[in-house]
Formats: sequence, structure tokens, C-alpha cells
Amino acid sequence: MISSDRARTSTASFKTVRFREGTGVGRRDYATSSSGSCLHPYASGAGSQGRSPVAELYEYPDSSGNGRQPWLVTDIIRLVRQEDVWDAESAERYDTPGIGMFSPEVLGPTVDRLAALAGSGRVLEFAIGTGRVAVPLAQRGVTVTGIELSRPMIEQLRTKVDEATVPVVVGDMATARAPGEYTLVYLVYNTISNLLSQAEQVACFRNASRHLTPGGRFVIELWVPELRTLPPVQQATVSQSEPGYIGLDTYDVLHQRIVSHHFTFGSGKEARVFRSPHRYIWPAELDLMGQLAGFKLETRHADWAGTEFDSGSRSHVSVYRLASWVAPVGRKGIDPRQRPRLDTIHDARV
Ligand SMILES: C[S@@+](CC[C@H](N)C(=O)[O-])C[C@H]1O[C@@H](n2cnc3c(N)ncnc32)[C@H](O)[C@@H]1O
Repeated sequence: MISSDRARTSTASFKTVRFREGTGVGRRDYATSSSGSCLHPYASGAGSQGRSPVAELYEYPDSSGNGRQPWLVTDIIRLVRQEDVWDAESAERYDTPGIGMFSPEVLGPTVDRLAALAGSGRVLEFAIGTGRVAVPLAQRGVTVTGIELSRPMIEQLRTKVDEATVPVVVGDMATARAPGEYTLVYLVYNTISNLLSQAEQVACFRNASRHLTPGGRFVIELWVPELRTLPPVQQATVSQSEPGYIGLDTYDVLHQRIVSHHFTFGSGKEARVFRSPHRYIWPAELDLMGQLAGFKLETRHADWAGTEFDSGSRSHVSVYRLASWVAPVGRKGIDPRQRPRLDTIHDARV
């Protein structure tokens, strides 16, 4: 494991709801956003033993004693730390071989497309997690490195591949630097939304740019915000409802954030809950973030198989490419990795 001292130290997280010990992850091993795209695996609050830091995020009633329950989006965002959300328990529950996001129908086209984009170049995955995508990609012969904040997630990855096969830098994908240069950086499964401010999301684009060779690509998989399903007087939408599971998204439209609440029911009256905070991004805003980092949108599809993206699409796979390195006659060319101003890029093309 490559170490990095740039791990993020943001503040915050969730709370605890009583749930039945031993209530396992159900048939739906992955939560699904209102868009139908998966956001996160279920996780519990805390057990009676081995209380994790994230347990405090599920406290009921509010331990501050001010009578206010910390379920509002703003409270949860204020409390959340990604490294607490992605703790040992979440990491252990993450993989669901053959099911949900680990099913061949999902993983097959994902790995096919990334392998095609990688060609013979080296590849970097931001937020590599337990290696859901990186491991099969490496098995295809692609050289993959990762950046990941959560050590427990990396520990799960290490049960599948060693450090020589898939090296990982421990750190924040908005700032951490992995050694070397890459022709492809990718960030999948809606994970750019785990960065909870616009500034961090832009920094993430810039960090991708920093790692790429000229003409390199940055691929993002992200859901399309479903604000049309949120009436003005309502604070939450039901993202999915099916036997044994209900998902609710609560909104803070002012700050462009949601918290996804995933409830899994067992027998009796108790349920398991997992909450994940996100900053949602419109495709157009994502493109602008790309421009700020020297990228141009190359393609956008509704899925990994290349389905056309249209106004009804609920998710997208967007491929950004570093602006071409063009050396006009008599002038020195611009290296996109230096993050030139957009007008400078334009000037260079003339
Ligand atoms: C939904 S999982 C996705 C994991 C993997 N990419 C996949 O497709 O299965 C989100 C991952 O992002 C990681 N993560 C969240 N914020 C991060 C950050 N700022 N820097 C690096 N990793 C982060 C979490 O620890 C977790 O492993």
C-alpha cells in the first residue's frame, strides 16, 4: 500500500437508529437512487458491541439535548466524515458477488468500456473501494492503480489482489497524488457526489488532470438529479420501495445536497438503516467543472453499453478528454496538465 498524508479530514456523519442485531443485508444488497442508479451498499448503524464512530450518527434522541433530531440534511452533512461512513462494517458488507452492482450485467459492460478506453495505457481509479471494477479490469491485463480514503475498504481489496498487482494510495481523491502518469482516470458509481462541496468536486477534476498524459481521459459515472420528483412543499422523495426495502432521499435544494436513507426491514418491527450524503451535480455543471480543469466532454451515454443519453436518462457515463496539446507555428504549445486558462486553450487552437 502506498501511503499518503493527504487524507481528508472533513468533519461530520450520521446517527443511530435501533435495529435488530443480525438483520443481514437483504436481497437488494445495494441501495438505488431515485434515478435507479446505485448509490451505496447498505450498512448498519452500530451493534451493541464494538461501537464504531459512525454509530453516533444514528443516535436517537438527539444527544445534544436540544430536542432537535439530527436527521436534517444540513445536520447530517455537518456531522459526516466519509472515512466513518466507509468503516469496517460497511466494507465487510460491500461486496455482493454476482448480485446488484457486482452482477455480470453491470460489471461486464463497465469493464469492457474502460478496458477499451485504456488501450495499452496505465489506468487510475479514484475511490477504488474494494476493487469491484479495478480487480476485473486488472484481470483483463490493464495496469490499474487506486486512490482510496477508507482503509477498511482497501483491506477488503487486499483479500483479492496484492499491492504489486493493484497499488493503492491512501488519501483523498481531490488532492492525493499517485505516482506516475496515466492515460485514463475513472470515478464510477456516483462517487464524485461523495465530495460535498463544489470546490472539492472541481478539485477532483483538477486532480484527475494532474495525473493524465496529454490527451488523457477522465470518465465519470453519475446519476442525473431527480428534482422533478420533488414537489415544492416536500422535503423527501421515495427513491425505491419494494418488499423488505425502502429508500428515501431528503433534499437541501439550497445547497444542492441530498441524504439517501436506506431502510432494510427484517422480521419484527425493527429495520437497518444506512445513510449517505451527496452533493448532486447536473450534467452541465459537471461539464463546466471539466472545463475549469482543462477537459472537454468527448462522449456522454446513458450507460456503459453506449445507450444514447437524452432528457429521460437517469444516469450517465461521461468521458472527458484533456484539451489537445496544439503548438501553433512559432509559438510554444500548451501542456493541459498546467491547467491553462480556457481562453489560452482557445488561443492555442487558432
Ligand atoms: C460507492 S463506493 C465505490 C467504490 C468503487 N469505486 C466501486 O465502484 O465499487 C464509494 C467509495 O468512495 C470512497 N471515498 C469517498 N470519498 C472519498 C474521497 N474523498 N477520496 C477517496 N475515496 C473516497 C469510499 O471510501 C468508498 O470506498
